[in-house]
Formats: sequence, C-alpha cells, structure tokens
Amino acid sequence: MLVPWFIRDIVNIIKLKASDKTKINFGCGYKPIPGWLNTDGGDGRIFSPPKLPGIINLDVWKFLKHVQDDSTKFISSEQFFEHFDRQDGFKMIQEWYRILKKDGVLRIQTVDLEKEILVYLDKCEGVSWEKDVLPHRLKHIEHSTDSYCKLMPGEKYVRAMLLNNGFHMDGHRFIYDFESIKMSLERAGFTDVKRVEFGKSDHPQLQGIDYHDGGKTGRHWIPKNVLLVEATKK
Ligand SMILES: C[S@@+](CC[C@H](N)C(=O)[O-])C[C@H]1O[C@@H](n2cnc3c(N)ncnc32)[C@H](O)[C@@H]1O
Repeated sequence: MLVPWFIRDIVNIIKLKASDKTKINFGCGYKPIPGWLNTDGGDGRIFSPPKLPGIINLDVWKFLKHVQDDSTKFISSEQFFEHFDRQDGFKMIQEWYRILKKDGVLRIQTVDLEKEILVYLDKCEGVSWEKDVLPHRLKHIEHSTDSYCKLMPGEKYVRAMLLNNGFHMDGHRFIYDFESIKMSLERAGFTDVKRVEFGKSDHPQLQGIDYHDGGKTGRHWIPKNVLLVEATKK
C-alpha cells in the first residue's frame, strides 16, 4: 500500500523525537552506522530514501527542524556534504553547530578537490588513475542514470570526465578542499578544525566508522582520496 508522504513524515518525526540523539549520522544511504541515529531522506532526484529499519527517512532540513539546540555529542556524514551548494552547505554547518552540545564534534567525509586534481595529474600518492580510478568509474557509469556520466558512441572515459564527474556526478553541488571547508566551519563558530585520517580519530566514538574503506566497497584507494575533517563546538 502506498503511504502518502505527509503520513510518512509524521511517522518519522515521531520516531526522531523518541530517538537517542547522542550520535547522528546524516545521509547514511544503505550504510547506517550501528549504534548511531541514522538519517537519509533521499534527494528527490537520484537517491530514494533507503528502506532500512531504524533509519529516519526525512529530508535533512525537516530532520534538523525537529532537533533542539544542544542535543547531540557527535555528528558524522560520509559522502553527503558535497550534495549541497556552498550556501546550503554553510546553512547545514550552522545547523550542525546549533544541535551539538558544548565540546561536541562534527566529522565530515567528502570528496577532496585537491586530491581529485592530483588523481587527474596522476600524482595522488597510492592512487593510480588508470589502475584504480578508471575501472571503478567505468563500473559506476554503467549503472548511473546521470547524464554527466554517459558515454556517447565512440567515446572512452577520459580524465576530463573524472573532474567533471567529481563536480556533478550523483547530484554533487560543490567540491571542497581543506581551506574552503575550514573557512565555512570557522565562520559558523567551530574551532579546532583539522584534517584527520581515514578510520582514525582522537575520539573513540568516531574511530572506525568510515565505510568506504575499500574492503567492503572494493575501492581500496578511497581512504587516500577523500577529505576527512573534524571540528569542535567549544
Ligand atoms: C552518495 S550517498 C552517500 C550514502 C552513504 N553515506 C555512503 O557513504 O555510501 C548520498 C546520500 O545523501 C542523501 N541525501 C541527499 N540529499 C539529501 C537531503 N536533502 N535530505 C536527506 N538526505 C539526502 C541521499 O539520499 C544519499 O543516500
């Protein structure tokens, strides 16, 4: 039976209000973090809300509207932040700041502009454009409905497509480097903004939560390729 969207929203808002909000994972897709409150509402275009038990299926702005100030200690988002333009990205950082308690920590994993360029130049340490990235991109475009990915007859996948897909693929809206994401985080009030390593953190709650470890996804080069940042609300 098809449930109208507003009924679905009400059910999810009730679920959200009753949930433990100590650790929230935004844009979880089909990779919820066990023991966290996971949320994903789809993007209304490419991604549908994941049908998994326990996930709050709400658009991120609706979700945030129903979370009070100073509610959470840890926020994580993996491969999600790049789906918003810089203005909305900043708005989201402000919202994340608002819902974090004092000393709460935000962890963002996103596409790294600098490393995409290094891959384009074949200068990204431990990542070969031809051996690592190209086979993955070819597999990805086969399944994608995104016009940016589509090869026209007689074409092969070339590096310019890598960079353009980095910007547009799967609904990407803005690709950050450390300097630009740090600026947004500090403008919103975050301090102690630092680049961190894949799978690692000074906070035990944030250790080992990154999904795209290459083991499960087959993308062994991802840990060397993504931008991982942590920031604290003092
Ligand atoms: C590339 S996927 C990442 C999924 C997962 N975190 C991972 O690393 O595999 C981006 C996710 O962001 C979600 N998303 C995009 N825009 C959203 C919005 N406005 N509200 C809620 N979720 C959104 C999509 O539904 C999608 O599952």
